[in-house]
Amino acid sequence: MSTALIILAAGKGTRMESDLPKVLHKIAHAPMLWHAMRAGLSLEPARCVVVAGHEAAQVTASAETYLPLAETVLQEEQLGTGHAVAQAAAALDGFEGDAFVLYGDTPFLTEETLQAMKAARSQADVVVLGFEAADPGRYGRLVTDGDALERIVEFKDASEAERAVTLCNSGVVAADSKTLFDLIAEVKNDNAAGEYYLTDIVGLARARGLSARVVRCDESETLGINSRAELAGAEAAFQARARANLMEDGVTLLAPETVFLAWDSFVGRDTVIEPNVVFGPEVTVESGATIRAFSHLEGCHVSRDAVVGPYARLRPGAELAEGVKIGNFVEVKNAQIDTGAKVNHLTYIGDAEIGARSNIGAGTITCNYDGVFKHRTVIGQDAFVGSNTMLVAPVTLGNGAMTASGSVITQDVPEDALALARAPQQVKPGFAAKLFKMLKAKKAKQAKAKGA
Ligand code: UD1
Ligand code: MG
Repeated sequence: MSTALIILAAGKGTRMESDLPKVLHKIAHAPMLWHAMRAGLSLEPARCVVVAGHEAAQVTASAETYLPLAETVLQEEQLGTGHAVAQAAAALDGFEGDAFVLYGDTPFLTEETLQAMKAARSQADVVVLGFEAADPGRYGRLVTDGDALERIVEFKDASEAERAVTLCNSGVVAADSKTLFDLIAEVKNDNAAGEYYLTDIVGLARARGLSARVVRCDESETLGINSRAELAGAEAAFQARARANLMEDGVTLLAPETVFLAWDSFVGRDTVIEPNVVFGPEVTVESGATIRAFSHLEGCHVSRDAVVGPYARLRPGAELAEGVKIGNFVEVKNAQIDTGAKVNHLTYIGDAEIGARSNIGAGTITCNYDGVFKHRTVIGQDAFVGSNTMLVAPVTLGNGAMTASGSVITQDVPEDALALARAPQQVKPGFAAKLFKMLKAKKAKQAKAKGA
C-alpha cells in the first residue's frame, strides 16, 4: 500500500527569535525539516506534502532541495495543527493509501517507530504515536483503555484527572488518507486555544465507530525544538547518537565527546578518529583510515588506509585515494590525490590533480586563483615538488618531474625534468661579520647619545 507524508512546517517558531523559519535551523548541518523528511522516507512514501506558512518560499526551496518529489502547500494563517493538515487535502485528493502526519520540528523519529505505526495500522483505523513523558508539561494527553485510544485532550482543555496522565501525544498520526481528511473536515475550533486541533480526530473517529490505538516510543524520539537552547540540546542528542552508532559500526573514537559528525557522515569500520575532529556535510571515509586530531572535513572522500591530519582541512571536492597522507596544516580543496601520494606539511592544494606516489614538499601552494578565474594544477605520478614551490596554475608537471625548493613554477614541466625557478644564490665572504660590526657600533652610539 502506498504512503503519503504530510509534514507540518508552517509555524513561526517565535521562541527561536530568528528571521529564519524554525524548521530551517540546522542540526548536524541539515535543516531539522530534512531530518523529519528523512525519517518519513523510511516509509518509502509515494508523496510528500510539506505544509508551509511562515517564510513559505524558503521552506519550499529547502524541502525541494532535499527531495525533488516534495510538494508544498500553503497554510496562510496558522489556525492549528488540524487546519494545517486540512491544507494538504486538495493535494492528496484521490490518493489511495495511508497518510502519516509528521512535524517539521521533530527531527528524531526512528525508522523502527514509523514501521511499528505502519504495522499497527492493520489493527486500527487511526494510529497515534505516544510516549511516557518524564515531565508531561503542556503536551496533549492520551486517554486510553488498554492499547485502545479513546481521545486526546490538549493540556489547556484537560481536567485535573486528565492532566495526571503521563502518556503524551507526540503529534505523529497515521490513518487512511481519505479517512483522515474526512475526520479533519469535522474538526472545530471550540476549545481553549480557539484552534483546529489535529488531535480531535481521535474522538471523532471513535464516535463514528472507528478504532484508534497508541504506538509508544521513547521520549527522546519525539523531542521537539522551540528555542535556541532546545536546538543546542537537540544537537547534543544527535551527536551522542551518531557517535554511538559509529562505534557500534566498528569505528574507534578516542574521545567520542569531542568528535562532531554531520547528519550524513559515513565512516567505514576500523577507521580511527582522534580527538577534536569536525565533520561538515557530505563526508565519506572508507575503512581503516586514520583521521588525526583537530582535523576539519567537509564534502570530501577519504579512501582506505589514508591518514589525515593532525590539523588538516579537507574542503569540498577533496578526494583522497588509498593510502594518501595529508599532514599538519594542509588544506585540500577540489583536488584528486591518487594512491599513496603525500602532502605532509603546511600546504594548499586547490583545483588540482596529484598522481600516485607523488610527494609534495612543505609549504607548497597551488596558486589557483587569479582574482577572477580558478585554474587547475596537474601533477603526474612519482613527481617530487620541492618545499615552498609556488605552482602558478594553469600548470602541469609530468610523471617523475621535480621542482627545486622555492621555485615559482609558471610553465609546464615535462616528464622526468627538473624545474629550477628561483633567484641564483650569491655568497659574499666575510660580509656578514662586517655588517654585524657596523650595526653593533651604530647601536652603541645611539645608547651613548641617550645616556648623555
Ligand atoms: C501539538 C499537539 C499536542 C502534542 C504536541 C507534541 C495539537 C493540537 N497538539 O501541540 O497534543 O503533545 O504537539 O509536540 O496538535 N503547525 C502548523 N500550522 C499550525 C499549527 C502548527 O504547521 O497552524 C505545525 C508547527 O509548525 C509544528 C507542529 O505543527 O511543527 C506542531 O505545532 P505546535 O504549535 O508546536 O503544537 P503544540 O501546541 O506543541
Ligand atoms: Mg510544539
